[in-house]
Amino acid sequence: MTTLAIETSCDETSVAVLGPGGEVLANLVSSQVAIHAPYLGVVPELAARHHVEVLPRLVHAVERQGLLADLELVAVTQGPGLIGSLLVGTCYASAFAYARGVPLVAVDHLEGHLVSPFMNLNGEPAEAIPEGALTLVVSGGHSSYFLFSRGRGVPLNRTRDDAAGEVFDKVAAALGLGYPGGPVVDRLAEAGDPEAFRFSPPRIKDPQGELDFSFSGLKSAVIRQAQELQLAPLPDPQNPPQAALDLLASFRAAVVAWLLAPLDVLCQRHRPPVVAAAGGVAANRLLRQELARWGEKTGTPVRIPPLALTTDNAAMIGRAGQLRAASGLWTDPVTLEPYARVSWKGSGERGTGKRLFPPLATV
Ligand code: KG4
Ligand code: ZN
Repeated sequence: MTTLAIETSCDETSVAVLGPGGEVLANLVSSQVAIHAPYLGVVPELAARHHVEVLPRLVHAVERQGLLADLELVAVTQGPGLIGSLLVGTCYASAFAYARGVPLVAVDHLEGHLVSPFMNLNGEPAEAIPEGALTLVVSGGHSSYFLFSRGRGVPLNRTRDDAAGEVFDKVAAALGLGYPGGPVVDRLAEAGDPEAFRFSPPRIKDPQGELDFSFSGLKSAVIRQAQELQLAPLPDPQNPPQAALDLLASFRAAVVAWLLAPLDVLCQRHRPPVVAAAGGVAANRLLRQELARWGEKTGTPVRIPPLALTTDNAAMIGRAGQLRAASGLWTDPVTLEPYARVSWKGSGERGTGKRLFPPLATV
């Protein structure tokens, strides 16, 4: 089904058009980084206001290219995210679908990240997601492995405190490196010594959560170390001294090592046919290299999406919408309401939330 997709969960306004097989025909992303950078984080009211201005322009742009001529489906992010931002996207998508008489499907933002490793930007159809695929979703709000099982993304672990992307952002902010922190830390870390500083991994005693992540201790340790070295904030952020580059390289190496640490155990338990990574932190160079290396060493196929599909984008929402539509999971445009918080909590099937991910078809 030719699909128009809309993503406004946080600070990127994105509109995509997909062909019936998940071919990405357009994937426009308007970043608000410059608007939020002075505040070192996303200001929800500013984000929502900017979505109101930009979203119609992006939809008009794909319409002018003639991409909506055979429109059969509208997909939109329902949550989790900033409620004001989500309201802009869901109201626009509902009105658009209703007015044009096109079916609507609402998608969980994480479902989008989960399907993204099986998409491409070459205009080719998306891959079917194999049963048992194991995907690390790692972004500004989430750090979890998911098993794709019987059409559902089942969370296998979670972070006990901060998400990995959040920690990149907070360390960068403490050093005066601006927002978002992940890309700049990643770039500077390339010139540092990853073995200059050692950080001990957290010990989670709870046997139910032995594979869970915890990053807030690392964040505090890195910021404390930077303060001791008088690097927080950096006197000249454009020219960080070697000690700062070494600290950032050691920090990045620790995050990546800890993110990949559960892989061997998870693979022994679940024997996944493919391992994937998704979300903004999957843009990280070291994470991409190390996961690819792990795949070669163990002979496991690995999927990492192209950079433009790692950070928030509407193309992944469109594909998740197509899979939901294939399962008959339509949304009523008149009653659609966004949700701000994740709809599941805890690890594995023991989740205490309303639901895990709803079933996606495995077409
Ligand atoms: O998926 P995303 O765009 O939004 C959320 O759903 O959160 O992820 C944004 C996060 C930010 O925390 C950003 O700093 C991080 O992804 N990020 C990176 C890199 N590029 C973006 N973290 C580490 N290395 C990168 N190259
Ligand atoms: Zn995201």
